[in-house]
Amino acid sequence: MRSGCCCRLRRDSKSKEVIAVPTLSRRDLLRSGLALSASSLVARSAWARSAAVLAGASGAASAEAALAPREQLLFDFDWKFQFGHGSDPARDLGFGNGQGDFAKTGDFTFSKAKFDDSKWRTLNLPHDWAVELPFVHDEVQNSHGYKPLGRRYPETSVGWYRRVFEIPASDLGRRIWVEFDGAFRDVLIFVNGCFIGRNDNGYAPFRFDLTDFLEYGAKNYIVARVDASFGDGWFYEGAGIYRHVWLTKTDALHLGRWESTVRPKVSGRSASLDLGTVVLNEGDKPETVRVKWEFFDPSGKSVSSFKSLQKTIAPATSQEFTTAPNPYQSDASPVLTNPVLWSVESPNLYSAVITVEVDGKPRDAERVSFGMRTAVFDADKGFFLNGKPLKIQGTCNHQDHAGVGAALPDRLQWFRLGVLREMGSNAVRTSHNMPTPEWVEACDRMGMLMMCETRQMSSSPEGLAQLETMVKRYRNSPSIILWSIGNEEWQLQGDMAEEGAKIAGTMVRRCHELDPTRVVSAAVNGDNEKGVSDAFDIIGFNYGLTRPDKYHKEHPKRPIYGSETASAISTRGVYSTDPLRNTLSAYDVNHTDWSELAEEWWRFYATRDWEAGGFAWTGFDYRGEPTPYGWPSINSQFGIIDMCGFPKDSYFYYKSWWGAEPVLHLFPHWNFAGKEGEEIPVWVHSNLDEVELFLNGKSLGSQQVPRLGHVEWRVKYEPGTIEARGTKGGKTALVEKRETTGPTVAIRLTADREEISADGKDIAILTVEALDKEGRPVPTANNHIGFAVSGAGALIGVGNGDPNCQESDKEPKRSLFNGLAQVIVQSTRQAGEIHIEAAKEGWDGPELTPAKLVIVTKKASLRPAVD
Ligand code: GAL
Repeated sequence: MRSGCCCRLRRDSKSKEVIAVPTLSRRDLLRSGLALSASSLVARSAWARSAAVLAGASGAASAEAALAPREQLLFDFDWKFQFGHGSDPARDLGFGNGQGDFAKTGDFTFSKAKFDDSKWRTLNLPHDWAVELPFVHDEVQNSHGYKPLGRRYPETSVGWYRRVFEIPASDLGRRIWVEFDGAFRDVLIFVNGCFIGRNDNGYAPFRFDLTDFLEYGAKNYIVARVDASFGDGWFYEGAGIYRHVWLTKTDALHLGRWESTVRPKVSGRSASLDLGTVVLNEGDKPETVRVKWEFFDPSGKSVSSFKSLQKTIAPATSQEFTTAPNPYQSDASPVLTNPVLWSVESPNLYSAVITVEVDGKPRDAERVSFGMRTAVFDADKGFFLNGKPLKIQGTCNHQDHAGVGAALPDRLQWFRLGVLREMGSNAVRTSHNMPTPEWVEACDRMGMLMMCETRQMSSSPEGLAQLETMVKRYRNSPSIILWSIGNEEWQLQGDMAEEGAKIAGTMVRRCHELDPTRVVSAAVNGDNEKGVSDAFDIIGFNYGLTRPDKYHKEHPKRPIYGSETASAISTRGVYSTDPLRNTLSAYDVNHTDWSELAEEWWRFYATRDWEAGGFAWTGFDYRGEPTPYGWPSINSQFGIIDMCGFPKDSYFYYKSWWGAEPVLHLFPHWNFAGKEGEEIPVWVHSNLDEVELFLNGKSLGSQQVPRLGHVEWRVKYEPGTIEARGTKGGKTALVEKRETTGPTVAIRLTADREEISADGKDIAILTVEALDKEGRPVPTANNHIGFAVSGAGALIGVGNGDPNCQESDKEPKRSLFNGLAQVIVQSTRQAGEIHIEAAKEGWDGPELTPAKLVIVTKKASLRPAVD
C-alpha cells in the first residue's frame, strides 16, 4: 500500500472533493533546479523517425471485408446527432415524460419514418462529443479534464444518434446484428419504434440482434440514446459512440461470436493446433454441419486445412466443435510444420479461415489471426518469450489523443504505438479498460506485447460479462501475454479483503476457463499480501519500490512484475517547475509522492533478474487527472510523450536503455535570452560510453555515462551552440547540438504521410513549427497559427501538447507550444487532394511567411459500408 497519507490524497483526487494541491515533495522542487522556460527540437527528429516506422505499417482499418457469405458493413458514416437532456424530457425528445415509454412495443416514434431529424447535425463515427465541449472551471470535473459531463450537466451529458438505413428484401432469413465496438456510456437502442436493448458500461463491445425488428426491402430507423452522466473511471473518458459500429449479416446457421479459438502448441519444428468453435442454428430445420479450418501462413499462403466430422444441429440449438478432449477423425491433422514464430522483432501472424459447411456449401465463415509463440513468467528469471528472456519495457496508456479525444481514427492508434515502439518499448498496458480492436490488431501486427485489462474488478453479472467479453474477444491475439482483472481496488485489497479474495478468485477462474493459455493478474497498489492477490498467477506491483524485494524473498515461487510504475511528471520543452504556471520541469526530477522518477524505477526493475519488467505510467499524456496541479491544467503530465505524440526529454532516457540503437540526446534547447551568465543544467541521455560537452567550441569536459543513468553539466549561459559528442569504444559515434535561434519568421508544415487513402477514414498527421530566418525550428515559439483546409478532406482536430492550453480542439487554429502544434486531417471517400494552409492567426505577434501542404488522397478499396 502507499502510505496512508498518499492513499488518502489519491482517493480524494478521484472523488468530488478534489484536492488541487501540488503533490511535489520539497525534495522534488529543490531538485528541479532553475526556473527556465524552453523547448526541445529533438521532438521533431523522433517524430520523423516514428513516422518512418509507421510507413511500413498497413495503416489503419484493415480494409479486409468479412468472408462471404457473411457481411460486415461499416456503420460509421452519415449519422444524425443532437444533444438530449439528462433531466428535462421536453429537451430529450419527450423521452421519460410520463410513465409509459416502455409500456407497449413499437411506440418510440423518434425511431420511425415520420420523425424529422433534418435539423440535427450530420457526422461520422467514431465521435466523442466531450472533446467538443468547452472547459468548465469546476473542481469536481478535474479528473474528467474539466468537461461539463455528469448529472450536474444534463444539457451536455446526453446525446441522440439517428440513422436511416436500407435492408434489401434479399436479406430476409438472415440474422442481422448491429454491433458497437464500445460507446460512452449508457446506451439505449431503438429500431423502427421498438426498444431493442441497453448497455451500461463505457468500454466493452455490445451487439443486438435486429432480425425480427427490421423491414425487408425498405428503410429502417435506428436511434441510440447515449448518456454520459455516469463515468467508469477517474480520467477523461469521452462521451458518445466513440468506437466503430457495424451492421453484420449472417446465415441463420452461423458461428458463435468470438467462439473460434486456435491455440498453437509449438514443439520443436512443428506446432499442433487446438481448435474450437461453436455453431448456432437459428433456422427452423435441423442442419447437418461440418466445420472446415484453413490455415494461412504469415505471407498469406494456404498451408494446411482441417475438417471436422459432421454433426446435426437441431433448430434453436448450438453445437461445439473442438479438437479437445475428443479428437475428430479428420482428413488432415491440425499440425503445422516449421512454424514461424511470432515475436516482438518479427510479429508473424498466421490466420485461420473457419467455415461452416452444409453439403459442401459455405453458410458462414470468419477469419481469426493467431501467432505461434510461448510466453512464460518465471519467479526467478522473469519473462520469457519463445524461450528467450525478455524484459517487459512497457507503458500504461489511456486511449485519448489531442484533437479527437477518445474517438481515434484507426491510423492514430498505429501512430501512437509507433511512437512508443520507436522509444524501444515492447509492451503496453491498456489501463484501465479493454482496448479498441484496432489497438489490439496493431499490437499483433507491430509486435507489441500487451497486458489487457478489464474495467470493473467484480464478479457481479456486469463485472463478469465485461471480463468474458474481453477474454473471448481477444484470446487469439498473440500480443496479449496477460489478462488484468483490475487496478488498485483498495477496498478489496484492504477492509474487504475476504470478499476481494472471493471476487478475484471467481474472475481468475473464469479467465482460465475461457483461456487456459494465459496468466492472470491485476495492478495492485499494496503489499499483495491479502485480498485479491492470492488468486493471481503473477503478482503486479503499482509503485512502492520498497515492496517487491520483500515480497520476492517471502514468496520465492511467485513471478513478479511492475504493473504500474513511474508516474514521473514533466511538461514538454519546459525546463522549470513553476506552480504558478502549472509547469513541471522536463528534466527527470519530478514525481508524485507515491511514485518514482524514470531513472529510479527502471534502474530498480532492470537490475533484478526475477523482475519481469514493468509498465510506466504513462506513455502519453492524457486528458483529465491534471496531477499535481488543477485548473487551468486540463490534462495529465505523466506522459513520456505529450498529448500529440511529441516526445518529452525522458523519452530518450527510455530509448537509451530500452532501444537497440545508439542514442545521444542533448537538452535543453539553447534559447535563453535574458539568462546570460546564469547556470543552466545541461543533460544528455545516452547509451554511449562517454560524452564530451562543448559551449561555443570550448570543451566543458567529458563524462562517462553511468549504466541506466544520464550525464549532466551546469553551464553558464551564453548564446551560440552547445554540442555533445558521444564516443563508443574510443570513437566518436554521435554528435548533437543545440543552437540559439533567431526570432520566428516563417511557418513549416510537415506530414507523417503525404499520400493517404481516400476511404473517409485515413488521416494525415501534420506537425506545425515556426522557423527563424535560417530555417531552424524555434523551440520556444508560441505563435498563434490559423489553418485553412480545403479539397478532399477535413480538419478533425488540433493540439499542441500544452497541459494548460484551453483552446478548442476542433477550431482551425492553434497556438504553438514550445515550437510545436499538430493538425489532423481526414480523407473523404472521394480521391483528390487535401490542401492545408497555415498562416499567422490574429493581429498581434510577428509576421510569418505562411506554409502550404498538399496531401494526396488515393482511390482505395473501400471497406463495405452501410450506404
Ligand atoms: C495510479 C492509478 C492511475 C493513475 C496514476 C497516477 O494509482 O492506477 O490510474 O491515477 O495513479 O499516478
